[in-house]
Amino acid sequence: MKNEDTQSDRYALIGHPVSHSRSPFIHGMFAAATAQHMRYELIEVLPDRVADDIQAFFARGGKGLNVTVPHKEIAADTVDILTTRASDAHAVNTIFRDESGALIGDNTDGVGLTRDLEENLNLTLAGANILILGAGGATRGVVGPLLDRKPSRLCIANRTLERAADLAARHLRKGHIHISGFHNIARGPFDLIINATSAGLSGATPPVSTGVIHRQSVCYDMSYKSGGTPFTIWAQEQGAAMAHQGLGMLVEQASEAFFIWRGIRPDTAPVLRALRDKDNS
Ligand code: ATR
Repeated sequence: MKNEDTQSDRYALIGHPVSHSRSPFIHGMFAAATAQHMRYELIEVLPDRVADDIQAFFARGGKGLNVTVPHKEIAADTVDILTTRASDAHAVNTIFRDESGALIGDNTDGVGLTRDLEENLNLTLAGANILILGAGGATRGVVGPLLDRKPSRLCIANRTLERAADLAARHLRKGHIHISGFHNIARGPFDLIINATSAGLSGATPPVSTGVIHRQSVCYDMSYKSGGTPFTIWAQEQGAAMAHQGLGMLVEQASEAFFIWRGIRPDTAPVLRALRDKDNS
């Protein structure tokens, strides 16, 4: 017998802009592979409407939301309860209702990044010397899970030093974070350099001195762009061992959200392959 309640459960991504998002494709593939009856839509929401639109979505029977830039912080202030990882990040990218009807805000970005690095790219984070470029919302979501892996050193370089200092202070109980501007980054070599700035949106790379990248450095851009981001292209030119884009992180954070909503963990490899094929076609 079919379960009518789950026939077309409604899910959506809210953000601004969202029109180019790959999330409907990703969740569509997850749903087909796991025989879940659900719809996943894109909802363009302006910042002053976020709180009202989140409430309205669930009041109309919506089952789950993803939240993307620039609304993750407002979403954290809107939900009733934050999970520990969302509270640590003060950013929410996944919302659902619990049995009592309360809106729960979670953050799957950190687990998305660490799964992509460890399981898809076979990197070892424990004992690694890691540099993160940027100290905005993207960094806030991943610092806690990275510190949990016990890197030998975690450095954050940012244009605005106070934002890096604030992040380091928030995470003191998990470990020490070395902070700097872009021009006085601690001496490497770094095993992993993660670009979490939004500089690529305007075609730029963070102004990091070229000596930071060594031949053994793996570079990772949390964003993605067909043909490479400005940062991955620059990293390759600097002779990095590898330069990866954040498509794997996108798929892994989505699979964690899907698991939270549906209780089933979808296989991510076919979806990542399909996205890469689409990009190359
Ligand atoms: P997001 O949620 O996408 O992280 P954000 O919170 O506005 O957005 O953070 C953007 C990050 O990119 C910040 O670290 C920002 O630096 P500042 O904190 O100094 O603003 C960084 N950033 C944006 N444009 C940049 C550029 N052209 N060069 C270097 N850093 C840049």
